[in-house]
Amino acid sequence: MQRITHYPLLKEIQNRWSARAFSSRFVENEDLYALIEAASLAPSAMNEQPWRFIVGNNPDDLSLLKQSLFPSNHDWAQHAPVLIALCTKKTTTFNGKDNFYSRFDAGSAWAYLSLEANRRDLIAHAIGGFDKQLIHDHYELTDDFEVVLMIAVGYAGDIKSLSEKYQEREKPGSRRPFMEMILTK
Ligand SMILES: Cc1cc2nc3c(=O)[nH]c(=O)nc-3n(C[C@H](O)[C@H](O)[C@H](O)COP(=O)(O)O)c2cc1C
Repeated sequence: MQRITHYPLLKEIQNRWSARAFSSRFVENEDLYALIEAASLAPSAMNEQPWRFIVGNNPDDLSLLKQSLFPSNHDWAQHAPVLIALCTKKTTTFNGKDNFYSRFDAGSAWAYLSLEANRRDLIAHAIGGFDKQLIHDHYELTDDFEVVLMIAVGYAGDIKSLSEKYQEREKPGSRRPFMEMILTK
């Protein structure tokens, strides 16, 4: 499935969308760590690189990350062979004060990761609906870190593996016309 764009765009931007049907195909470390490296190249305020990743590519971490998913997300994301929790450091290393751009920068890292995933024919689906505190507690993260996003990673599988509700939604999300996103006085 491909989006129609008005202008010719980077093909990964055009092709990326949030699929939910995963196959059980193994994701090679070579591909997985390339996604993390792509994320690491995102720009950040003061070059803080506040993002951190908990990579669920082994039974223990994967099981804990799965457990944190809210039921509606667990329904489909439990079949992803890899889950990654994206965390971010809330304070700067520069002066220890709040980093206003911490989540913003983590969002850029997610975007880079998702586009590199698309280039490698991998799905990367962002999930906000999960128990962030469970992960914070389990990994004994300090107070200056917060868990912001879960990312389900894997190869596309059979749409019929999804519940009916999600089968209907297995297509690129729509967008409001981009010219409406420009604010004017
Ligand atoms: C921060 C964030 C949180 C999201 N949380 C969820 C979620 O909890 N469950 C889900 O199925 N999709 C979730 N999504 C995926 C969005 O629903 C999806 O990106 C949006 O509908 C646009 O569709 P597209 O990615 O196919 O273009 C989330 C995406 C983002 C960026």
